Amino acid sequence: MARRKKVYEGKAKVLFEGPEPGTLVQYFKDDASAFNNTKRGIITGKGVLNNRISEYIMTRLNDVGVPTHFVRRLNMREQLIKELEIIPVEVVVRNVSAGSISTRLGIPEGTPLPRSIVEYRYKSAELGNPMVSEEHITAFGWANTQDLDDMLALALRINDVLSGLFFGVGIRLVDFRLEFGRLYLDEEMQIVVADEISPDNCRLWDMDTGEKMDKDRFRHDLGRVEEGYQEVARRLGILPESGPRDLKGPKVMQ
Ligand code: TMP
Repeated sequence: MARRKKVYEGKAKVLFEGPEPGTLVQYFKDDASAFNNTKRGIITGKGVLNNRISEYIMTRLNDVGVPTHFVRRLNMREQLIKELEIIPVEVVVRNVSAGSISTRLGIPEGTPLPRSIVEYRYKSAELGNPMVSEEHITAFGWANTQDLDDMLALALRINDVLSGLFFGVGIRLVDFRLEFGRLYLDEEMQIVVADEISPDNCRLWDMDTGEKMDKDRFRHDLGRVEEGYQEVARRLGILPESGPRDLKGPKVMQ
């Protein structure tokens, strides 16, 4: 097989040059990290499941007119995506108090929020992705007000779509984190959803039992981490064809 050029390697994914200009191949690893990379581990089969789950969610979003970078899944661990100019701002949408908002503001975990709350974080691993306001984002030129308007509108729309999608399979969408990028088409620029949407960057709780089915199982050593991801995929109807034995998948080619 021809060697491919690695463009970027993150904690959970690798990006390779794509087959055509303006495309990339996104490879999903089993590696997991938390608390700004101070906790690390492997969640067996996570890459295969997140590739499927993110494909499913991005496809649903594309179907309802939310633009995403997703083009198509290539194999068990890889998907073809459009190359974007990544905006260095993470957008977090929260419906129920959990994680850092509970710690920061002393709101007990599980408290429904009066309305969906959007937070921004500056994408800088060295700084621990600090929370920032729209003022910081526009003043430092990470995004302009039009970009921010588009990101906010898309984030709230995605929250509506995903809350309904997960509600339909008995899962509460507690919160999630999005990334966006700029896609240039001739003279036009469009703000597009990037990265992945999976149990790595969503909090997903069973509607009846409150059981966590996301990366918090890894973050807080709750056990049965793989099973959480598998259960999300199973409920969405997208477990790999031959079941959990299919989860290891091929090794990354470099
Ligand atoms: P937080 O409560 O820790 O701020 O997390 C909010 C959401 O963002 C939650 O769904 C997990 C996700 N998240 C990431 O995707 N990456 C991160 O580095 C962190 C800290 C959280």
